[in-house]
Amino acid sequence: MLQTAILADHEAVSQFAAQWLGELLVEQPDALICLASGSTPTRTYELLAQRAADNPQLLARARLLKLDEWGGLPPGDAATCEHHLRTVLIDPLNLSARYTAFDPQAADPAAECARIAAWLANHGPITACVLGLGVNGHLGFNEPADSLEPHAHVAQLSAASLAHAMVSRAGARPAFGMTLGMADIMHSQHILVLATGAAKRPPLEQLASGAITTTFPASMLHMHPSATLVCDEAACPPESRRRS
Ligand code: GLP
Repeated sequence: MLQTAILADHEAVSQFAAQWLGELLVEQPDALICLASGSTPTRTYELLAQRAADNPQLLARARLLKLDEWGGLPPGDAATCEHHLRTVLIDPLNLSARYTAFDPQAADPAAECARIAAWLANHGPITACVLGLGVNGHLGFNEPADSLEPHAHVAQLSAASLAHAMVSRAGARPAFGMTLGMADIMHSQHILVLATGAAKRPPLEQLASGAITTTFPASMLHMHPSATLVCDEAACPPESRRRS
């Protein structure tokens, strides 16, 4: 069952998420944490980085895995998920040695996805998966479709993904995505989904309907035994709360 917490604003959601991750890492210092990119979890990662700066043991053994990546952007482009995660968390805390990620410049994207799939088969499952919510219900780049891919794969990007703010100023239009699959996400021991801002109202309304369908991948979260949705009041207005 999808647990839901509704907090005042983006900062409160980020504080909650950083605390949640901090507590998990105290219990399980070698946890494998899967990290989404995008605007929603950025503040969470900043707060987690602050906690780790104050307590170097917190992330001393943790393993980090990038959820997804844009393909076809110029090398070093600031729009890549790689740039995002490295800037906010990986580089400031020197976590590169325990960080596994799709290479945005991989010459053979399918082989790169196979590499990540093999790595996760050997080192998984994910202990805690931090997710954002696509406006079309995607998780990572698991886009609405008649069927969903279980493991890491090259994804055809939806119009909603191509319109994402991350790539609005990119040096090129992304040609594809690379993403963990739905089974990878669903096999996570714990899932934390963050959704803030009014743009997330429509997908949250659809999620609240409870219907489970591959055309709205986030709906699979209703089947996860330990998934928590944390949203702010802007994303989850009172009228949708009454219906959920
Ligand atoms: C993007 C990424 C996801 C991200 C989601 C929401 O397209 N593929 O990893 O979680 O969409 O992004 P945001 O938090 O910026 O709304």
